[in-house]
Amino acid sequence: MSTFDPEFLWGAATSGYQIEGAVAEDGRGPSIWDTFSATPGATDNGDTGAVAADHYHRYREDVALMAGLGLDAYRFSIAWPRVQPLGSGRVDQRGLDFYRRLTDELLERGIEPWPTLYHWDLPQPLEDAGGWPERDTASRFAEYAAIVHEALADRVTHWTTLNEPWCSAFLGYATGRHAPGRREPAAAVRAAHHLLLGHGLAARVLGGSRVGITLNLTDVRPHSAGEADQDAARRIDGIQNRIFLDPLLRAAYPDDVQKDLADVTDFGHVQDDDLETIAAPLDFLGINYYAPLLVSAATEPVPTAYVGSPQVRVMDGGRPRTGIGWEIDEQGLFALLSGLARDYPALPLYITENGAAFDEPLHDDARIAYLDAHLRSCARAIASGVPLKGYFAWSLLDNFEWAYGYAQRFGIVHVDYATQRRTLKNSARWYAGVIERGAL
Ligand code: FCB
Repeated sequence: MSTFDPEFLWGAATSGYQIEGAVAEDGRGPSIWDTFSATPGATDNGDTGAVAADHYHRYREDVALMAGLGLDAYRFSIAWPRVQPLGSGRVDQRGLDFYRRLTDELLERGIEPWPTLYHWDLPQPLEDAGGWPERDTASRFAEYAAIVHEALADRVTHWTTLNEPWCSAFLGYATGRHAPGRREPAAAVRAAHHLLLGHGLAARVLGGSRVGITLNLTDVRPHSAGEADQDAARRIDGIQNRIFLDPLLRAAYPDDVQKDLADVTDFGHVQDDDLETIAAPLDFLGINYYAPLLVSAATEPVPTAYVGSPQVRVMDGGRPRTGIGWEIDEQGLFALLSGLARDYPALPLYITENGAAFDEPLHDDARIAYLDAHLRSCARAIASGVPLKGYFAWSLLDNFEWAYGYAQRFGIVHVDYATQRRTLKNSARWYAGVIERGAL
C-alpha cells in the first residue's frame, strides 16, 4: 500500500478560459484565446471557450462538488481580461468580485484557493502591442499581479504566477498551434524571457505570500546510447526544461541552450539584472506532467516546437496512449521528480497537473489506472526523499481543451455541454476514496 502524509495536499485543477465561459460578461475584455479560437481552422471543430462549462455562473455548484470529493485545495486561474479588460490601466471590480466570491465559497467549504495569475489568456490589446515578445508585457503582468494580490491577499496564501510558460512561448509564438498563432522562432525565445521576467517582477509584488510558478517539465530520453541521440536529448531537455529552470533557480540561462539557439537569437533582449529579478526566491515549484519524451537525432530537418534544434525527432516510445495520443508512462514522472530533487535540492514540489483524456463517459477505468499509476510514482518519489507536497488532478471538469476543443475530455467530472449537467465519473469517486484514506 502507498500511504501519503496527512499533510499531503490533495487537489484538482482547472483554468479560467477552459471552464468559465461568459466571455463578454461583466466587462470582460477579449483575450488572445477569444481571437485565436474564432479563427477558422485554429481549433478542432471550430470550438471556442465562449460558453465552456459555464463555471462563471455555476461556480457554487462546482465548489459543492469539490467539497463532496474532499479536496483540500482547488487550483484555478484568474482571467486577466476580467480584471483589466484592456490589459493595463482600468480595473473592472466586477471581474475581481467574481474571484472574491469564488474564493469565499471555497474557504467556507474548507478548500484552499490556489490561484494561477496567468493561464494563457493574454488581453488582446497587449498582443496587439506585440505580446510576450515585447518587454513591456512583463511590466503589465506585474501591474496586474499587484491588483489581484491586493484584492485577494486576505484569502489566498499560495500564488502561482504563470502556467506553463513553455506553451505560451513556443506553441504561441513558434508553432502557432496556440494563441496568438504566430510562427516566429526568435519572438518565441523573447517571449520565454519576458514571461520569466514577468514572473520575477510579479514575485516582488506578491511579497508576504508563498510564491510559485508552474512548468510543464518532462523526462527526456535519448532513443539510443549513441552520441547523436544523446545530444538530441540534451538539446530538448535544454529548451523544454532547463531554459526555465536555470534562470529561475540558478539565475542563468544554460550555456549549451544559448549555443543551440545561436542561429535564432543572440539573447540581446536580456538586460542587466533581469536574471537576478527572475531568480527571486521561489517558495514552491509546480510541475505539470503528462508524458515523457523520447527523442532521436534526425538526418533531415523536421518542424517541431523545439526552435534551434530542427535536427531532432520525437519518437514513438511504443507505450499505450491516452485518448489525446499522449503516451502513458508513470516512470517518467518518477524520473522527473528524482532529477529535480537532485539538481535543485530542497525546493518544495507540487504536481499542479496530471491526468488523462479518455473517451469513456462515466466508467472511466482507464483514467483511474492512469491516475493510480502516477500517484504510485509520486509515493515512490516521496519515499526516496523527494520533497513532493501535493497533487492536483487535471481536471476537475471536462473542459475546452485548447486547440483540441471539446472532443478531448480530461475531467473526473463529466460535463454534458448541452445541459451543463455535471456527473461524477468513477474516477472522481475513486479519487475521493484515495483522499479520504490518504492511501492507494
Ligand atoms: C496543460 C495545460 C492545461 C490542459 C492540460 C491537458 O498543458 O496547462 O490547461 O490543457 O495540458
